Amino acid sequence: MLLEAREVSKVYRGRRGGAPVVAVDRASMSVAPGRFVAVVGESGSGKSTLARMLLGLIPASDGHVLLDGEDIATMRGERMAHFRRSVQAVLQDPAGSLNPRKRVRQAIGEVVRLHRMANGAAGVRAKIVEALELVGLTPGEQFLERFPGELSGGQRQRVLIARAIVVDPEIIVADEAVSALDASVKAGVLRTMRELTERLGVGYVFITHDLPVVKKVADEVIVMKSGRIVESGPKAQIFSEPRQEYTRTLLAAAPVLEPVA
Ligand SMILES: Nc1ncnc2c1ncn2[C@@H]1O[C@H](COP(=O)(O)OP(=O)(O)OP(=O)(O)O)[C@@H](O)[C@H]1O
Ligand SMILES: [Mg+2]
Repeated sequence: MLLEAREVSKVYRGRRGGAPVVAVDRASMSVAPGRFVAVVGESGSGKSTLARMLLGLIPASDGHVLLDGEDIATMRGERMAHFRRSVQAVLQDPAGSLNPRKRVRQAIGEVVRLHRMANGAAGVRAKIVEALELVGLTPGEQFLERFPGELSGGQRQRVLIARAIVVDPEIIVADEAVSALDASVKAGVLRTMRELTERLGVGYVFITHDLPVVKKVADEVIVMKSGRIVESGPKAQIFSEPRQEYTRTLLAAAPVLEPVA
């Protein structure tokens, strides 16, 4: 499977009569299962807009988002359902991704039922427990009846990851998924996400401000500036021989927590 952006652009209408904003400008990239692609760039460079187009949450103004060569804009019915299941989002918890009134069992169970991933109450329950344990919430049964308010920040983020992987996606688009977490918690959640590439073959488009995080987990790095992809390539290359001045500045601005491998 391959998820691709081909020359995608997004132009937002200007707020209150202002000039239109070109949030993404002819960006091309791709991600396959098992690959960990990090997207970095300063605030406002278009990372979230690109992510939302890859997820089919907003339409591209120009260009195409393709799943295995098929334009998601023209997908209907079963094909659309297949896309919705195969490409999952994990967003930042403070953005209100979890309903505070729903227990973990309900939050994940409704996704299992929507995508018909299991049959009967016992089947759904087993599927939820399996997903919780895959993201390190063990034993899974202990988390089923909890409300989001009864979980730590790291546990909530793990529930969001469980809700994404419970439908057996091939690709996860994660936008600042660990940015709000404390350093030690962040490291654990990241390890879990990285493990899912190895154990389940999940591919990631992983958006982050956090360059030490990129250093730790990415295979490939995409650098955005003012809506454009200005540089992309294998992590080692981007970190050791950045071609763009902008990338160099971005790397220099980040606190170095560990030496480059
Ligand atoms: N709904 C919208 N309407 C108008 N302009 C928008 C909208 N969403 C984003 N923008 C603008 O598009 C540009 C790109 O925004 P985007 O959120 O994609 O950046 P980002 O790289 O994710 O930034 P951050 O790192 O701060 O999350 C910015 O100039 C932003 O102000
Ligand atoms: Mg953003």
